[in-house]
Amino acid sequence: MKEQAPDTQAMNSPVASSEATSGGTRVYAQEVAPPVTLSVAGVSEEGRATGSPAEPPVFSVRNLSVYYGKNLALKDVNMDIRPRRITAIIGPSGCGKSTLIRCFNRMNELIPGARVEGEVLYHGENIYAPGVDPVVVRRHIGMVFQRPNPFPKSIYENVAFGARINGYKGDMDELVERSLRRAALWDEVKNQLKKSALDLSGGQQQRLCIARAIAVEPDVILMDEPASALDPIATTRIEDLMQELKQDYSIVIVTHNMQQAARVSDETAFLYTEVDEATSARWGILVEFGPTSRIFTKPLDKRTEDYVSGRFG
Ligand SMILES: Nc1ncnc2c1ncn2[C@@H]1O[C@H](COP(=O)(O)OP(=O)(O)O)[C@@H](O)[C@H]1O
Ligand SMILES: [Mg+2]
Repeated sequence: MKEQAPDTQAMNSPVASSEATSGGTRVYAQEVAPPVTLSVAGVSEEGRATGSPAEPPVFSVRNLSVYYGKNLALKDVNMDIRPRRITAIIGPSGCGKSTLIRCFNRMNELIPGARVEGEVLYHGENIYAPGVDPVVVRRHIGMVFQRPNPFPKSIYENVAFGARINGYKGDMDELVERSLRRAALWDEVKNQLKKSALDLSGGQQQRLCIARAIAVEPDVILMDEPASALDPIATTRIEDLMQELKQDYSIVIVTHNMQQAARVSDETAFLYTEVDEATSARWGILVEFGPTSRIFTKPLDKRTEDYVSGRFG
């Protein structure tokens, strides 16, 4: 992302709602793109306007493959992520869910030997293009991990951390409070902001990590199994929080919990592992992607049906 990204991007395309099958992957494209003005660096008000399916995607993944060394881990993924929706990525262990979600903010390149092919267009701009600074990408596209990972600092300093690095000039107390309120943690910690974040419960720590991600005012929040280390009550709080947050943010969540995907998400991507019988090589593919209700009730692919009905995985 160039900081000085072209701040207008007229997008005109004919209205088309198409169902295509390519390479075994069914893709539901709702390519309805009215003229709209998007500021990549800031995401303008127009870009945040309605949340209707007619809006251009926040991400367009094009022919995305990921290798670890010589091993193909994820093959030829194509999908569009809608703004201010919750998109769930589901599939059996090892099918490439984490690999895929890390592509949305270039986290894979922090893994030695990882290589990404294809494009991830963020508001139309390829985040893998030469000259794009991954640090700027990650400022727009925040991430929350499976295990809560607060810094060994105070609650306050955890939230203020990113803003300080970015040279935030506003009222820090106000930013910390606002972020903690948005993460549904304020009431529990407002009288102990100087306390170590490590003294919080697991569920509180995860909400603190969400507050920390929100404090730098991202556009997208990526969550890789954010509740899998939490108890059911803390999990419910995170799920409720996601519903609140999607009013302002686009959320992509990896979950191995199908009930969770069905409960929280608007769209679901089902990944599955393909195996080359000759070499036993394995890689993940996107089998099916569409509205969550349809994926869970009328899947088009047998593999999706078997998975969502609990026959394997
Ligand atoms: N850091 C890594 N180095 C090498 N291989 C990896 C790494 N991370 C994941 N893989 C491999 O990529 C494949 C997909 O893994 P992953 O994306 O973690 O799957 P999931 O999140 O669906 O369980 C697996 O075969 C895994 O062994
Ligand atoms: Mg994973």
